[in-house]
Amino acid sequence: MQKHNQLEVDKRRTFAIISHPDAGKTTITEKLLLFGGAIQQAGEVRARKSARYATSDWMEMEKQRGISVTSSVMKFTYRDFEINLLDTPGHNDFSEDTYRVLTAVDSVLMVIDSVKGVESQTKKLLEVCRLRSTPIMTFINKLDREGREPLDLIDEIESVLQIQCAPMTWPVGMGKRFRGTYHLYRKELTFFDPDAEQGTGQIATMNDLADPRLDELLGSQVEELRNDVELLEGAAHPFEEEAYLAGLQTPVFFGSAINTFGIQQLLDTFVDHAPSPLPRAAQSRVVSPYEEPFTAFAFKIQANMDPAHRDRIAFFRICSGKFTRGMKVRHVRTGRDTQLSNATIFMAQDRTNVDEAYPGDIIGIHNHGTIKIGDTFTQGEDLKYTGIPSFAPEHFRKVRLLDPLKSKALEKGLTQLAEEGTTQVFRPLMGSDWIVGAVGVLQFDVVMHRLEYEYNVRATYEPVGYVTARWVTGDKRKLDEFQKREAMACYLDGEGRLAYLAPSQWRLDNTMENWKELEFHATQEHN
Ligand code: G4P
Repeated sequence: MQKHNQLEVDKRRTFAIISHPDAGKTTITEKLLLFGGAIQQAGEVRARKSARYATSDWMEMEKQRGISVTSSVMKFTYRDFEINLLDTPGHNDFSEDTYRVLTAVDSVLMVIDSVKGVESQTKKLLEVCRLRSTPIMTFINKLDREGREPLDLIDEIESVLQIQCAPMTWPVGMGKRFRGTYHLYRKELTFFDPDAEQGTGQIATMNDLADPRLDELLGSQVEELRNDVELLEGAAHPFEEEAYLAGLQTPVFFGSAINTFGIQQLLDTFVDHAPSPLPRAAQSRVVSPYEEPFTAFAFKIQANMDPAHRDRIAFFRICSGKFTRGMKVRHVRTGRDTQLSNATIFMAQDRTNVDEAYPGDIIGIHNHGTIKIGDTFTQGEDLKYTGIPSFAPEHFRKVRLLDPLKSKALEKGLTQLAEEGTTQVFRPLMGSDWIVGAVGVLQFDVVMHRLEYEYNVRATYEPVGYVTARWVTGDKRKLDEFQKREAMACYLDGEGRLAYLAPSQWRLDNTMENWKELEFHATQEHN
């Protein structure tokens, strides 16, 4: 097949950083942007992060929305590459947004704190990456602190995260004794010098580890390095690009982000080896990024970017073809053709209107609620991208309306918020109380606040005894019977699909055992 736009596609890298809070994601983002010339001084990204963090209150978050949106996608160039870094939500709460962002990238960077090792959120995020075999590079951060033994950390990543590690660099000492890293392939010793600009001191190239110059340069610490690498040779794996691209192996770098140490080594390997935009599965076929017709799918929706206009912005990942301003596209779910004259591309500092964009790029489309998560745009083909899931919520609240006359507005608000992917809504088969379900509890506050300010609905939450949900499908007769017998626990989600809400894991297991003919799904694709 002819490779359309080949140069543009091949030089793009679209990725996200995954880490447990405080491992150093913001710091690394900032350093990457500095290398990419997208920001001029350290502190810019941090200022945005604190602006977001300082405000657990949604009101304040709304004031800051311009900021958080700008940083949702950061585009920068490095060497000849065009890099799109997609931000995953910064708060500690785990949200569906994070999952969905991961469906829009071609690879991820995993940051691990060398003091803490593998933490819970990293584990969860990695599971999501595994669903799509996303290639992962690893940066072990904070080597300037007394952390865990590097060999231990490698061992932990391999056993807990179930992924092979291929160390690319190896640290010499840590904390006060941190001298730098040795690049196992380039055979370069890079000295750490916290006083030097960007923390990088002298770089010395060796013949191999036996080189006597190493003894001169490292003194007594050379033995540690040699011993470690000898152990590594027995235990770790050499870097294999194929295994990395298949998501089976992660190249590992060590450094100190705050001192910009190790970042450039990582970035160079990243642009050289991370995948350019990959082919993507649609329901009917797999679409190559080199195809000429434009296609894109919505993975994230953010509301009311401009409080004066009350509109929403849908983030589309381009999968094939070329976007040009004013082009006509087919909105496949509705079957309507629309003109994309008002698209935004996201830069590190600013949102700017865009004239051209290519596979791997993210464009933002303003709309008034017509676009839903998972929607596909094409140039006429009846195509639907797959793999943008909803996950079974783990937290539930019953919504009690304070003004009974507002039930229509409540329904509208909850349904629209669910379409944006903020939360999921469930309407009972029996009774009238809506249930809101979320993957992380922070979303509950967001929903209440937005119901009040955007939909003029006052409501409160009441606790409700559910712990998980499953979407149920199967033979119609059996489903009818199930709905009769389990009516109290049966709900319809925002898209009208049958869901079973379970009060305990035990109860869920039991129900599934009793209804073997039916299928219970923990995830659901957006229609
Ligand atoms: P996050 O986005 O993953 O949550 O992490 P972030 O970059 O905000 O870093 C969390 C904390 O760790 C910050 O300290 C940051 O300065 C520190 N940090 C990041 N990289 C390194 C490193 O290489 N070495 C050391 N020693 N610390 C590092 P903080 O006290 O929470 O914030 P701040 O007062 O420094 O702004």
